[in-house]
Amino acid sequence: MLTYRLEGSGGTECLVMRDEVRPEPKPHEIVVRVRATSLNRRDTMILNGTYPLTPRQGIVPLSDGAGEIVAIGDAVTRFAVGDRVTGSYFARWVDGRINAGLIDQLGCTLDGMLAEYAVLDEQWAVRLPDHLDWHEAATLTCAGLTAWNAVTGAGIPKPGQWVLAIGSGGVSLFALQFAKLLGCRVVAVTSRGGKADRLRALGADLVISTSETPEWGAAVRDQTGGIDLVVETGGPATFAQSLIASTLYGHIVLLTLQDQQGRSIEMPAALYQRSLATISRLFVGSRTNLEAMLRAVSQHRLRPVIDKVFAFTEAGDAYRYFQKGDVFGKVVVDGA
Ligand SMILES: NC(=O)c1ccc[n+]([C@@H]2O[C@H](COP(=O)([O-])OP(=O)(O)OC[C@H]3O[C@@H](n4cnc5c(N)ncnc54)[C@H](OP(=O)(O)O)[C@@H]3O)[C@@H](O)[C@H]2O)c1
Repeated sequence: MLTYRLEGSGGTECLVMRDEVRPEPKPHEIVVRVRATSLNRRDTMILNGTYPLTPRQGIVPLSDGAGEIVAIGDAVTRFAVGDRVTGSYFARWVDGRINAGLIDQLGCTLDGMLAEYAVLDEQWAVRLPDHLDWHEAATLTCAGLTAWNAVTGAGIPKPGQWVLAIGSGGVSLFALQFAKLLGCRVVAVTSRGGKADRLRALGADLVISTSETPEWGAAVRDQTGGIDLVVETGGPATFAQSLIASTLYGHIVLLTLQDQQGRSIEMPAALYQRSLATISRLFVGSRTNLEAMLRAVSQHRLRPVIDKVFAFTEAGDAYRYFQKGDVFGKVVVDGA
């Protein structure tokens, strides 16, 4: 079977395709014929050696992928051959709070999905909604679940309240879609004004170009009366404006602290003094969260936004394209 492995952490040259023996499942394992995978920001950090969790040497990369089960171990009870599944990001985190014993991640410390076949413990996988095609089904594990937990986590915004989504990457577009499912109003800010129409078509009630309005926080606050929930994916480039945009008791889910240049967010004293916003954090989510999200995706027949699909043999090109950052939704790699 064909599989990619990360042999080092020096960029796409370390992404090596190998031809290996197709695995057989142990008693509690399933073998998945992978039909598609997708990229997340963390995958580029793992590739470049900047991810906080040290990857295992020679790992099969990518947490996100979808496929059908072609073989199961003797003791498997959760699945049957033919089931359509995806993996759970923190494979061992089933429910409740995360702890140090549960931090193994697919595509980092455990072999991930960028292979013709993936071997997963049956506890690491979940069934997929029927209405999704393989490309769409491969996008939910990291960006989808992060956005779901950001929007439905600590304080679920009520219908009519304002949610702010920053940019048009994977997490932001899912956040926009989930916020609309909840009946919220959504502001989308983007550094590229050319994406405004697509953001409106997805349901954004207000779109602001950050290049045309660099001090967009005040503009957002003026036009909305204040944001109730910010899904903060921008980090140091956007945090201060997000705080300005928020209502006095707003909620900011801070998903990243640093940008790709290593700069961290700052909290100017003048902003701190005039805001009572709650700042919370999260790490993607558990399998139980993933199952809850997939029920909602299924119920509302939500369709993830795909930016571009690459052939399996072009996985390096997919990484390079994704790293440039001018995306609208998910970058997908077809199965082998
Ligand atoms: N804590 C967690 O559990 C968790 C989980 C997943 C992701 N994250 C973090 O969340 C962030 C987003 O992840 P992602 O996978 O959605 O990334 P992504 O797909 O790479 O998103 C990139 C988008 O962000 C926007 N952007 C980039 N620089 C910007 C800036 N200076 N100001 C405003 N917008 C900017 C751009 O949209 P426009 O072109 O429209 O401006 C770009 O398309 C990453 O930092 C990632 O590490 C955290």
